[in-house]
Amino acid sequence: MSPPVWRSHCYEGRRKADDSILNGERGALATATHGYTLRMARPISAPRGTRDLLPEDGPAWSRIEEIARDLSERYAFDRIDTPLFERIELFSRGLGESSDAVEKEMFRVSGAAGSEEERADWALRPEPTAGIVRAYLEHGMHVRPGPQRLWMIGPMFRYDRPQAGRYRQFVQWDVEVIGDPGPMVDAEIIELGQRFYSEVGLSDVAAYVNSIGDATCRPAYRQALVDYFSAHEASLTDDSRRRLRVNPLRVLDDRDLDPELAAGAPRSVDHLCDACRAHFDAVRGLLNGLGVRYELDHRLVRGLDYYTRTTFEFFVAGRRGQQQALGGGGRYDGLAELLGGRPTPGIGFGIGIDRSVLAAAEQGVEAAVEAPLVAVVSSEAGELGLRLAAAATLRAAGLRVRADGSTRKLGKQLESAAKLGARWAVIIGDDPGTVILRDLDEHTQRELPLSEVAAAIG
Ligand code: HAM
Repeated sequence: MSPPVWRSHCYEGRRKADDSILNGERGALATATHGYTLRMARPISAPRGTRDLLPEDGPAWSRIEEIARDLSERYAFDRIDTPLFERIELFSRGLGESSDAVEKEMFRVSGAAGSEEERADWALRPEPTAGIVRAYLEHGMHVRPGPQRLWMIGPMFRYDRPQAGRYRQFVQWDVEVIGDPGPMVDAEIIELGQRFYSEVGLSDVAAYVNSIGDATCRPAYRQALVDYFSAHEASLTDDSRRRLRVNPLRVLDDRDLDPELAAGAPRSVDHLCDACRAHFDAVRGLLNGLGVRYELDHRLVRGLDYYTRTTFEFFVAGRRGQQQALGGGGRYDGLAELLGGRPTPGIGFGIGIDRSVLAAAEQGVEAAVEAPLVAVVSSEAGELGLRLAAAATLRAAGLRVRADGSTRKLGKQLESAAKLGARWAVIIGDDPGTVILRDLDEHTQRELPLSEVAAAIG
């Protein structure tokens, strides 16, 4: 008889450093002898560029997501959710064939083997705006009253080279206002972004703003860039030379661009038509009036092709690396038409939740303080039902409760309650209506009716 092979999981209770999660293969085959051959199955790790959110990460994430949800409510946005995957054509038409998201970073999805859709042209969404505008058009939302103010929070997927702050799956909080051409909403959206960072507790978040014109003035600006950069082609990176041919605005986006060359490049604000200039002046005036601090950034063209007029990005001041943007957005007045709809103006932003959580941790912002934990314990194993009933009563009163389901001695149960971080233990005795409330920090206790525990804990 061949010896049994033991399979074992490699469980890591402790979070590994971010970088090793991004790059590392965990574990290897190991053998040991113990009478039998002990073969450790190779542990399966999360796909490269993805991360597990572990219990210790939860409070920081929940707090920041809650701020996003709460602000969406306060700014009168309505929730929308669109599928995680869409037709590739939605992105190639909406974001542009030459955008990195489409050209290099598409996560393709196909149907089940043998199905009609085995070769379907779907992709996991790299961003939400195209899907939201698709939904807006598909559901005829233009007939609803007022501009549509929509928000969502959820995962996006880009097959990018993973590194700290740049993941293949990441979460964005997204807001969009569709159907409002005026400058007021541009300022409102930028102010909302700044308010988010301030409520998260991040100091020193800078907003950078630009206007890249529209279909009227962009062609001349584009040509001015082609003329300028063609004359300096030898100084461009390979990537920029390619960008010069397919989308010259994106040469400005190349962070390896020679700074002197960049500084001398034609500026979009100098090529705006009268309507775009008036719009941008109004946006700036409104931002000034609101007291929102921002800087002009003439190189801020954004990586997606759908943008028109106002573009903006948020960074921790002084940090402008490509994977450092905390959020960004802009106006996309031509996107609905690209997707087959009637001309419909739109503006919005996407804020990276992963990067906001990282920045908050770097700046030492306190994660949410959870409500104190209450442990329900008792000395008799036969009282499991009473423990459960008491826990239900306490939870109904709003407390955060864990009931011990073990048959261990009372002392052991109290020990493990303390290890779990419980602040209080509720000890059930013979009379289910009366319990002992033990303060596990102060080591004091008193007897009281179960119905009074919530008030006693306050
Ligand atoms: P985006 O600039 O591509 O814009 O992404 C917005 C934010 O998502 C970034 O500023 C960053 O914080 C986060 N982000 C992007 N890629 C990654 C990544 N690989 N890993 C971690 N975080 C990332 C958009 O997606 C537009 N849809 C924004 C928008 C909405 N424009 C108009 N409406």
